[in-house]
Amino acid sequence: MNQYKKTLLACATAAGACVALVAGLTQANEPGLIEFTEVEINRILSHGPWPMKWTPDPSNRVSGNVHAIDLGERLFFDERLSVKENVSCGTCHIAEYNWTDGVKRNKGQAMVDRNTPTLMNLRHHRWFALDGAADSLWSQSMRPIVDPRELASNAAHVAQYVRKDADLSCRYEKTFGVKPTAQDDEAVLVAVGKVMAAFQETLVTDVTPFDAFRDALARGDHTAATLYPRDARRGLKIFVGKGNCSTCHVGPMFTNGEFHDIGVSHFIDGDSKKVDGGRHEGIKKLAASKFNLLGPYNDDATRASATKTVHLKPEHRNFGEFKVPSLRNVGYTGPYMHSGEMLTLNTVVRHYSELNVDRLHADGESILKPLKLTQSESADLVAFLQTLNMDRAPPWRGKEYAHPPCVLTTPAAAGETYYAP
Ligand code: HEC
Ligand code: HEC
Repeated sequence: MNQYKKTLLACATAAGACVALVAGLTQANEPGLIEFTEVEINRILSHGPWPMKWTPDPSNRVSGNVHAIDLGERLFFDERLSVKENVSCGTCHIAEYNWTDGVKRNKGQAMVDRNTPTLMNLRHHRWFALDGAADSLWSQSMRPIVDPRELASNAAHVAQYVRKDADLSCRYEKTFGVKPTAQDDEAVLVAVGKVMAAFQETLVTDVTPFDAFRDALARGDHTAATLYPRDARRGLKIFVGKGNCSTCHVGPMFTNGEFHDIGVSHFIDGDSKKVDGGRHEGIKKLAASKFNLLGPYNDDATRASATKTVHLKPEHRNFGEFKVPSLRNVGYTGPYMHSGEMLTLNTVVRHYSELNVDRLHADGESILKPLKLTQSESADLVAFLQTLNMDRAPPWRGKEYAHPPCVLTTPAAAGETYYAP
């Protein structure tokens, strides 16, 4: 019995999931199938199934509301939200670029300090921005509106614009049941954050070749499993095995949703006077924000959604930590890292392979050691990462979609009110 059969038999006894796969193997000794250990198989299975279940965000009362999604989508691409009418969210988060922009760093009114992250699958995140300075998607969506380097707008301008534009205020009323209030600009700004969040919650990546392999393993479908390329299988074995990658890039999202220091430079533009403190600064910004989940704008009466925020305190170890990115569609999110300093996945893999442990500031990152991969192992790991890409553009009606005019008297049709992913 070869090693592959043994491990799969072990898997069958342990999990009962791989029986048919073993049966397949007794018929054909598949040349070149990678030998996964039981631990590795369990790790592979834990990266699915995909897509993940999702329920609307309790802190946002219009999460999942189709009218909110519609209004949020329009505002996302609307440059008139910025005072100079020249920048929208879509300036940097471009659908055709997997909702990022393909450049190291981008400009709104001025250059920002970090690489633009993708907006895909954000509905499954707990913290937002690469330093976790926001604890909800809606509060994160408000930050670029008022940031002087991005839209450089303000509550008064946004509120006035939404009130005065007949179509927008009609959609606002359809969403919230009331017209945008004339007295409270800030409340309208928060509402705009919430509809933009509702729109972004619909951005979800599709299944990938990796998911097909993972599901084949789960069903015990040997024939389907062998369709997964051999180099990707070897790379996957490194990912879940000696590479330790799945310690942080965990689960169906390939991220634990938390923050780590992996030794990427903390200096902005290589200037030692301009330091990006990462999570350490992010926690302070979050605590100081009146838009956090502890504040008055959280719609969740139970406040259960704020539990994690209550316990946050910046500690020394948080310095230089950044959010662990999801690796879904990673082939389309380059340049890589918070600084955008790594152009290709080959460079990222080289970083982990040749890691300089002296550059790790945070305690407890002993998971990371230079992997010293050979050239072909590195190529295999990249081949695996590329199987996390979906092979077609996500279904989306496009920013030029002509929204039918808003008519307030039409009641929402049954089943229309909530978006079912
Ligand atoms: C100038 C380019 C630029 C513009 C314009 C811009 N963003 Fe971003 N976006 C970024 C960058 C850079 C980050 C990372 C910010 C950080 O870590 O502090 C980011 C982060 C985000 C995140 C968090 C993603 C994550 O992984 O946590 C969300 C959500 C987001 N932006 C939504 C928006 C919305 C909504 C708008 C419009 C109101 C917008 N962005 C406008 C560049 C931009
Ligand atoms: C200790 C936790 C940890 C481990 C282990 C780890 N990563 Fe990461 N990974 C991160 C963090 C944190 C970042 C973002 C760092 C930054 O922005 O500066 C990251 C970034 C990445 C990126 C860039 C994604 C993007 O969109 O910018 C890739 C690709 C990646 N990791 C792959 C891997 C691979 C492959 C392995 C195993 C060899 C691995 N990671 C191991 C935490 C980890």
